[in-house]
Amino acid sequence: MERNPLRVSFAGLELENPTILASGVLGYSAESLDRVVRAGAGAVVTKSIGVEPRVGYVNPTLVQAEAGFLNAMGLPNPGIGVYVQEIGHCKTVLRAPLVVSVFGYSAQEYAGVAKKAASAGADAVELNVSCPHVRQTGAEIGQDPKILKEVVENVKAVIDVPLIVKLSPNVSDIALLGRAAVEAGADALTAVNTLKAVAIDVETTRPVLANVKGGLSGAAVKPVALRCVWDIFEELPDVPIIGCGGISSWSDAVEFFLAGASAVQIGSAVAFDEGIFNAVNRGVLSYLRRKHLGSVKELVGLAHRS
Ligand code: SIN
Repeated sequence: MERNPLRVSFAGLELENPTILASGVLGYSAESLDRVVRAGAGAVVTKSIGVEPRVGYVNPTLVQAEAGFLNAMGLPNPGIGVYVQEIGHCKTVLRAPLVVSVFGYSAQEYAGVAKKAASAGADAVELNVSCPHVRQTGAEIGQDPKILKEVVENVKAVIDVPLIVKLSPNVSDIALLGRAAVEAGADALTAVNTLKAVAIDVETTRPVLANVKGGLSGAAVKPVALRCVWDIFEELPDVPIIGCGGISSWSDAVEFFLAGASAVQIGSAVAFDEGIFNAVNRGVLSYLRRKHLGSVKELVGLAHRS
């Protein structure tokens, strides 16, 4: 049988192709996650789940920016107690790995949610230590190497599935935080979550988002995300990195592989075209053929060679 050049394996995960649905974009339900798997995604990440149900912020929670979106949803989610049933449903429906994104307000909460998600059937857990605007969680944890280590160690101790840590770009040295996460037990790093940002309505003379500050995603953040992947790869060349930030074409994905990513997450572009996964995969495959390369792996970090 012919080998699939798009297949990637890292951190114990096997993906038919290197495109992954990013957290937050299509929520939690098995039906919506299955839609993107059918549209070609090699794996899917859920929106972040916490201990308790949370309604999130009032509207407006999303605004289109010049080249992307600015969002502050406030981590709305049903709580892990309810969501475990949906994880079970996902496992019967999805034909690709399911990664459950989790958040908490303490190391113990992160560990509790992660443990329940893994026991319910998650193929991997992604820690959201990078949401830029909800207090006492997200980036407030992920920007401090000591607190980050404590969270990752606590989670690692209670799960036996791959542990992915999603990092924030809103820090001065992302490689240092990547190292802290890996030393504490992370199997892979996702780089990056959104950039903290503001939009103002000149007619009302007020900030557009109810929460004032939100996270910027989409094409506007791509060069920043690419630099983050670059910095982490320079520091940790043997650690799998999942690139995330503004990927909307096969050439964007290839840039991330060349910078050091083993796979890519796609988020904002899904809002315009759920068929983006197949389009990226087709383009990457034809690029590999044109360059006479046998696999995505051969591209990973290639731009760093001297
Ligand atoms: C949100 O729910 O407001 C976004 C979560 C995130 O940025 O991680």
